[in-house]
Amino acid sequence: MITEAKATSVIPISDQITMRGRRNGRNGDSNKLAEEDRPAHGWFRFVLSYPPHLVRHYLEEFGMKPRCRVLDPFCGTGTTIVECRKNGIGSVGIEANRMAFFATQVKVDWSPNPSRLVEHAEAIANSARERLDKDGITDAPGVSRGPRRDLLTLSDERKDLLLADSISPLPLHKTLVLLDEIERQRSPFYDHERLALARALVFQISNLHFGPEVGVEKPKADAAVLAPWLAGIREMAVDLAQLSRRPSASVDLHYADARDMAHLLHARSIDAVITSPPYPNEKDYTRTTRLESVLLGFMHNKMDLKSLKYRLVRSNTRNVYKGDGDDVFVADNVEIQRIATEIERRRIEMGKTSGFERMYARVTRLYFGGMARHLAALREVLRPGAYLAYVVGDQASYLRVMIRTGKLLADIAKSLGYELVKIDLFRTRLATATREQLREEVIVLRWPGVKSVRIATTNGRKINGKRKSLRHNH
Ligand SMILES: C[S@@+](CC[C@H](N)C(=O)[O-])C[C@H]1O[C@@H](n2cnc3c(N)ncnc32)[C@H](O)[C@@H]1O
Repeated sequence: MITEAKATSVIPISDQITMRGRRNGRNGDSNKLAEEDRPAHGWFRFVLSYPPHLVRHYLEEFGMKPRCRVLDPFCGTGTTIVECRKNGIGSVGIEANRMAFFATQVKVDWSPNPSRLVEHAEAIANSARERLDKDGITDAPGVSRGPRRDLLTLSDERKDLLLADSISPLPLHKTLVLLDEIERQRSPFYDHERLALARALVFQISNLHFGPEVGVEKPKADAAVLAPWLAGIREMAVDLAQLSRRPSASVDLHYADARDMAHLLHARSIDAVITSPPYPNEKDYTRTTRLESVLLGFMHNKMDLKSLKYRLVRSNTRNVYKGDGDDVFVADNVEIQRIATEIERRRIEMGKTSGFERMYARVTRLYFGGMARHLAALREVLRPGAYLAYVVGDQASYLRVMIRTGKLLADIAKSLGYELVKIDLFRTRLATATREQLREEVIVLRWPGVKSVRIATTNGRKINGKRKSLRHNH
């Protein structure tokens, strides 16, 4: 538990590592999934999600007890939510990407009977195998005698959404047959069966690789589909047997936009926030989850993709739109304006003229403006005295201009009335372009509470329908 004296003092950025979970002091180990954490966390997870031990560290430090409610407003594939559930602590998750939201939902549903789940999945696999056999196709890669023509495939509209060659025709055919069988034999295990397929798709069936950005490797002609899927189901069943013995805890999940969230939750109902929002680093989370989003039917066409991108904090130049206006919320932030101006100056100096390069300065302003909007909206739902941990990284992706994300977010938070408790260093990594050490940090804040929260920008723009001030009023 953070003591009151410590909480009110500002601890300067230091190189002290406070994570108990770090092993051997090696950076690479600090966000790996430890063997003992695999149950539920391992069912599906973003590559480079923060590790469960980091969540445990802050649950303990913030003194979270079973009756408390912890919010992750950018919950992704649910590391915070799963860890709270495992520790019997109530949680609330918000996520705007349907696929990641689905993964979190399934990862906290420990109700399926493990042996029935396996029996059901085996029956599905048998039906799928029979259908494949009829066409001379075997699950084991490279031994099919069957047709290379008339394979099941996706509509052109859906295919256009995929990264080129992210899945080869034969594995795609097998996957579509399996999906069809899961659909036909729909049961209470439906969601778990589909999540297990999403995981097998990304890591075994597809041609995707993560380094850590998603890319496509040399397409493989064939891949097993039923075998890795069943292996994943069996792993889930072993986990379920263990997880069902844990105490229950409330979980409340919202498929929504964290910049516009006050209406989702009761005032003063949240005791702590543990989260990792996007950073302004050109990472496109919709690409990371594209294949499984399309195959599981969460995205059918370009409009679906656009409306997903529209709900996300602007963190890359591929999700910036004409009417975007979050930049007004940092219009009077001198440091953010300086950085954006510097990026634009460098762009002109370096003669970079592509549409994306022209967008670097704008996305930087939109990103911090979006996070300001989120932090402003959040205040209404926090209990006075609530602690918050935001895991963010420095970036130098825009023409090598250094963006100290953590420091800037901490400054925005302070201008909104939050107290900065400390900034913990989570890990560092070397930026290949600049050879500089980039910090990944945990910004620890405290919401002191106020009698009435008024939120408005200096130029009078409305947030959440009310005229509000981004300045904090006591
Ligand atoms: C760094 S990831 C979080 C990873 C997460 N800690 C986990 O365990 O998987 C950031 C997440 O924020 C989500 N996101 C981006 N903008 C959002 C918004 N406006 N509202 C809610 N979620 C958003 C992204 O879809 C992504 O899943």
